Amino acid sequence: MSFNRSVKIAPSILSADFANFGAEIDAVEAQGADWIHVDVMDGHFVPNLSFGATTCAAIRPHIKTVMDVHLMISPVDAYIDGFAAAGADFITAHVEAGPHIHRTLQAIRGAGAKAGVALNPGTPASAVKDLLDICDLVCVMTVNPGFGGQKFIPLHSKISELRTMIGDRPVHIEIDGGVTPDTAKGCVDAGADVLVAGSAVFKGGSVSNPAPYGENIRAIRASLA
Ligand code: DX5
Ligand code: ZN
Repeated sequence: MSFNRSVKIAPSILSADFANFGAEIDAVEAQGADWIHVDVMDGHFVPNLSFGATTCAAIRPHIKTVMDVHLMISPVDAYIDGFAAAGADFITAHVEAGPHIHRTLQAIRGAGAKAGVALNPGTPASAVKDLLDICDLVCVMTVNPGFGGQKFIPLHSKISELRTMIGDRPVHIEIDGGVTPDTAKGCVDAGADVLVAGSAVFKGGSVSNPAPYGENIRAIRASLA
């Protein structure tokens, strides 16, 4: 996987049919998804539960693109090896999840995955300043994490600040939460290259009617022109 800053659209399976993850992933990749975003929630760091490493391992064979695992859990470190063994390409942990995010990022890379660091909406860009040489992705949350389908929080100056801080480093800027054809362009113009979209991709479609997934992905792409 070589680094580039072309825009990637990463559907979040949090908005997929939980009884059909494999088929949903097959469908959304066939319809043009660039990455698959996998939201892991522990009911403690965020007020919702989703699933863990066992589910990630089960869906991995369906992901032909990039498996982007977003851990909304605390503590993190004891679970890293499990998600790496499940085949995650990226493992992202929150800077707010504990006092030792630097160690966590080292552990993610040590386990053989690419390391991401996520920022809640209330956390400034400066929180990752000393982490940019040991990570591969910064995830800017544009909703308070825990649920799909929330309203986008405009944080464009934080995105631009991160883009300047990152400079030439091969570090992606990912936007997660409330991405739609109305909000995507402002994020990309500010410097983002990975757009997570859950409800905006999965709305109107299903495994038996996947064409809307493609229309929704193309609508986000078209909005960037
Ligand atoms: C929020 C998750 C997001 C979410 C995005 O806690 O991290 O990935 O599923 O969903 P939408 O695109 O519907 O805001
Ligand atoms: Zn996410």
